[in-house]
Amino acid sequence: MEKPEQPVRRPWIVGVSGASGTPYAASVIRALLAAGESVDLVVSRAARLTILDETGIAFRDAHWRADLALWLGTAEDDLEDVRYWPAGDFAAGPSSGSYPAKGMLVVPATTGAVAGIALGLSKDLLQRVASVTLKERRPLVVCVREAPLNGVTLKHLVELDAQGAVVLPASPGFYAGGSTVRELVDFVAGRVLDAVGVPHTLYRRWEGELGGAARAAERPA
Ligand SMILES: Cc1cc2nc3c(=O)[nH]c(=O)nc-3n(C[C@H](O)[C@H](O)[C@H](O)COP(=O)(O)O)c2cc1C
Repeated sequence: MEKPEQPVRRPWIVGVSGASGTPYAASVIRALLAAGESVDLVVSRAARLTILDETGIAFRDAHWRADLALWLGTAEDDLEDVRYWPAGDFAAGPSSGSYPAKGMLVVPATTGAVAGIALGLSKDLLQRVASVTLKERRPLVVCVREAPLNGVTLKHLVELDAQGAVVLPASPGFYAGGSTVRELVDFVAGRVLDAVGVPHTLYRRWEGELGGAARAAERPA
């Protein structure tokens, strides 16, 4: 008798590059998993430094699940539907367009990653997967973090937009009434998920009435 076909696993690929803003990545990954999405994770070599700097965690290829659990503040058992691909592994599944990914979220994105993706450099797996995502016409969100931005990066961002990527600056809005760092981080993460239509409850949406932010701030937590 023929076996019933298993549903194909179609993950979102989350690329974490070495920009300040690793909490944005953690919030996006947590929210994807909460929405029942599968996640494939690529962490650039430079991102290990930002993760170490911003969380104190030394992210290791060989112990990625334990390190990721610590970073997300979750149990390792909750990460069953996460796959991890080392940044130097060009033979990784997502390196090919035939790998059944839904799309890619680069959170946070360095100006270096922006350049590499815009120019198609594929200098590491993160950039290669982003190029694959573009060539396959799948959604790509680039959550760039740098200030100020120089002219070269601005040109690269325009190029990414022209190629179909969503350029989403890591720049929280305050109309949602967020006041804690966590709320402002979740606002940016929520906008990343909005860009690809993944449902979440990360921030309070605009409801068409001025004053909502102030009222939210007055409400007891
Ligand atoms: C603590 C720290 C913070 C950094 N913050 C940023 C940043 O916000 N934006 C940026 O473009 N680069 C930042 N960098 C520099 C990048 O990590 C560096 O350009 C690196 O080559 C990027 O490589 P990647 O794109 O492969 O991750 C930072 C580096 C460190 C160590």
